[in-house]
Amino acid sequence: MSAITQVNSNVGVNKIPENFLLGAATSAYQIEGGWNADGKGESVWDHYLHKQPDIVQDITNGDIAADSYHLYERDVEILKELGAKAYRFSISWTRILPDGTTNFINPHGIAYYSRLIDLLLANNILPLVTLYHWDLPITFSNNGGWLNETTTDRFGEYARIVFNAFGDKVKNWITVNEPSIHCSFIYEYGIHPPLKKSPGVGFYECGRNLLLAHAKAYHIYDIEFRKIQGGKVGLSLDAEWPIAASDSKDDLEAVKDYLAFNVGQYMDPIFKGDYPERLVNRIAAASRRQCYTTSRLQALTAKEKAYINGTADFVGINHYYSLYVYRNASVRGMYETPSFLDDTGLGTFQDPSWPQSAFTRMREYAPGLYSLLMYLKDTYHNPVVYITENGFPTTPAEDLNDEKKAHYLRAYLKAVLDAKANGSNCQGYFFWSLVDGLEWASGLQKYRFGLYQVDFIDPSRKRTARKSALVYKEIIRSGTIDFGYNPNPYGDTCFINT
Ligand code: NOJ
Repeated sequence: MSAITQVNSNVGVNKIPENFLLGAATSAYQIEGGWNADGKGESVWDHYLHKQPDIVQDITNGDIAADSYHLYERDVEILKELGAKAYRFSISWTRILPDGTTNFINPHGIAYYSRLIDLLLANNILPLVTLYHWDLPITFSNNGGWLNETTTDRFGEYARIVFNAFGDKVKNWITVNEPSIHCSFIYEYGIHPPLKKSPGVGFYECGRNLLLAHAKAYHIYDIEFRKIQGGKVGLSLDAEWPIAASDSKDDLEAVKDYLAFNVGQYMDPIFKGDYPERLVNRIAAASRRQCYTTSRLQALTAKEKAYINGTADFVGINHYYSLYVYRNASVRGMYETPSFLDDTGLGTFQDPSWPQSAFTRMREYAPGLYSLLMYLKDTYHNPVVYITENGFPTTPAEDLNDEKKAHYLRAYLKAVLDAKANGSNCQGYFFWSLVDGLEWASGLQKYRFGLYQVDFIDPSRKRTARKSALVYKEIIRSGTIDFGYNPNPYGDTCFINT
C-alpha cells in the first residue's frame, strides 16, 4: 500500500493568511423547518417524507429541524460567537416560488432571506448563498425532475428572481450543491426522494442536466447582473481523494478513473470544455457490452460544450474523506450491471487505522485534502477554490465533548493551509456544519455534524457550543491552529477530560 502523506500535523503552516475566509455552512431543508410557514410551497422532501416517513431511518423529517426559519437570529449570534467571517446557507426554492414557477413570488420568503442577509452583513459576515441544495419543488419532481431538461429552464428563472432580489447584497453564489451525490442518491441508489432507481442511466442524465442548469444560471448572472452587482458564481462539488492501493499500473489507472468519474464529470466540461475522455470511453465500452445502441452517457453537443465551458468564477469543494482504490480481476462482477460503480470498474477500501466518525465512511485522513487541492491546482490551471464543506459527525453520546471532530477540523484546516502555501488558490474554508441538522435519509439523531449541538427534543431548539466550536473560535481569534488547545465545553463543572 502506498499512502501519500504530504502533511504531518506537527509541521507545516499553522497561520491563517489575511483575507482567508473562515466560516461554516448549512442548507435550507436540513435546518430551517417552517416547512409550510408563510406560504412556502412543497419540495420533494416535504412531500415524500410526509407520504412515506420511513424513507428516513429514524422517522424524523425537516418540518421543524433546527427551526432556523424562526431562530435565524440565534444562528447569526452563533456565527458572531465563533468570529466567523462568512456563512454558507441555501435558499429554499419553494419558499421563494411556492410552486417552483415564477407565477407567484412569495413576499414572505423574500423577506425572510432579506432579514437573514441584512443581519449577516450588519455583523460583517459574508453570505455565500447556494441556490439549490437538493430541495426540488414537488411540481418539477412530478414532471421528471432532473431527467427532464425543462427543469433547467425553471432553475434559470428561479436563479434570476434570486439574483434580482438579493444580488445587491450577496456577492458569492453557488448554483448547485453536489450534483454527483444528489443524482446518485436519487437515481443510482434510489434512497432520496423521489426514489427513482435507474442505475447507470438516470445518474448520468441527471448530472448532465444539472451541469446545464448550472451553466444557465451562470449565463443569466453574467449577462443580466454581473455588471451591476459585481459578484461571483460557482458550484459545489463532492470530492473524495482516491489513493492507489499499490504502484501497479492497474491501480494507478483506477485512481485516474476515480477522479474522472467524480470531480472530472463536472470540472472537465466547465474548465476544459468536455467530459473527460476516460469517462466517455469507459461508459461507452460498458454500454456496448450491455447491448445498448448508444452510450448511457449522452455526449455533450458542440453547442452545449461551448455553453458550459468557462462557467465558474470559482469551484466549491465538499470534501469529507479519502479512500484506497484498486482494480483487479475481483472487481469484475462485483457490482450490479449496468451501474455507475460497474462503469468505474474499481474497488475501494479504507485504512481501518484512520480515526472513524459516527458515519463509517467518514474517517480522518487530512493529507487527502492536501492532495486533492494540489491535484485541482495542477489539473485545472489553479482555479479559485473554496472548501464549501468539510466535517466529521460525532454520535449523540459524544454530546458536547466532540474531541474527534475538533481534531479533524484542525488537521484538515492545516492541510488546506499547507496546500495554500504550496500554491493552491484556496480562498476560504466552511466547516459543515454550523448547527446540527437533518442528515437527509439518516434523520436528525444519528449523525451530529454541528459545531453547535441542537436539542431536538426541546421546543426552543436550544443550541450549545461543542468543544469543536470553542476550538474553531480560538483558531479564528488567534489566527493560528493550536493542537494543544483543550477547552472545556461544560464550563467548570461535570467534565472529565479523557
Ligand atoms: C454533503 C451535503 O451537501 C450535505 O447536505 C450533507 O449533510 C453532508 N454532505 C454530510 O453528509
